[in-house]
Amino acid sequence: MTVNSNRLRIAIQKSGRLSQDSQALLTSCGLKINLREQRLIAHVENMDIDLLRVRDDDIPGLVMDGVCDLGFVGENVLEEVSLQRQMDNETYDYTVLARLDFGGCRLSIAVPQEEDYKSVKDLEGRTIATTYPRLLNRYLKQNGVNCRIVNLKGSVEVAPRAGLADAICDLVSTGATLEANGLKEVEVIYRSKAVLIQRRDLADEKQLKLIKKLMPRIQGVMQANE
Ligand code: PRP
Ligand code: ZN
Ligand code: MG
Repeated sequence: MTVNSNRLRIAIQKSGRLSQDSQALLTSCGLKINLREQRLIAHVENMDIDLLRVRDDDIPGLVMDGVCDLGFVGENVLEEVSLQRQMDNETYDYTVLARLDFGGCRLSIAVPQEEDYKSVKDLEGRTIATTYPRLLNRYLKQNGVNCRIVNLKGSVEVAPRAGLADAICDLVSTGATLEANGLKEVEVIYRSKAVLIQRRDLADEKQLKLIKKLMPRIQGVMQANE
């Protein structure tokens, strides 16, 4: 299967919290998605659109680099990648087309349940494990607290029990993961939802027209869900 550059390319999470809802939204908008095989690229049969099914963490970069035209991604990941790219002097341009009605979660600091926690000052000198080092660092700086940050790509919630950290900073949705790991949420540092983003330099007339056709449908589906 080859990549046809005339087709609009939309990045969606391959598997995870946003996958089902992103796909369902596109299906409700009338896209017939051919998902029979576990392929990276899924063709839309009735429109000039291809879906790129990738890891959510890769989606902001793919759109910012113009590899994909649109992307469904959590604001948490988008903000973390933006901060990282700003620091590394890389491009971090994008346009938010819509804030969506799914993927709601918060990025929070959590500590062991038995801990006597009063305020953010209690974190001074402690070690915090996270997948979001830049968002966490920004928050700690704003609050004048110095911590050591341990960067983990997964299994963040087991870090305190494993003796890797005193606290964690991770996404909380229902709170079940924290509960299951004997942790309690003590600070909310970022509230997030899924958004649809577009690359800044998109200029292809046909593709822009397609987006213009798609957007009212997305708004319509969201209104119907209210
Ligand atoms: C997040 C987070 C926790 C879980 C919390 O993971 O890392 O594992 O959700 O949800 P809960 O409060 O409902 O238990 P996510 O699904 O975003 O996957 P990822 O960590 O692989 O990106
Ligand atoms: Zn992820
Ligand atoms: Mg997780």
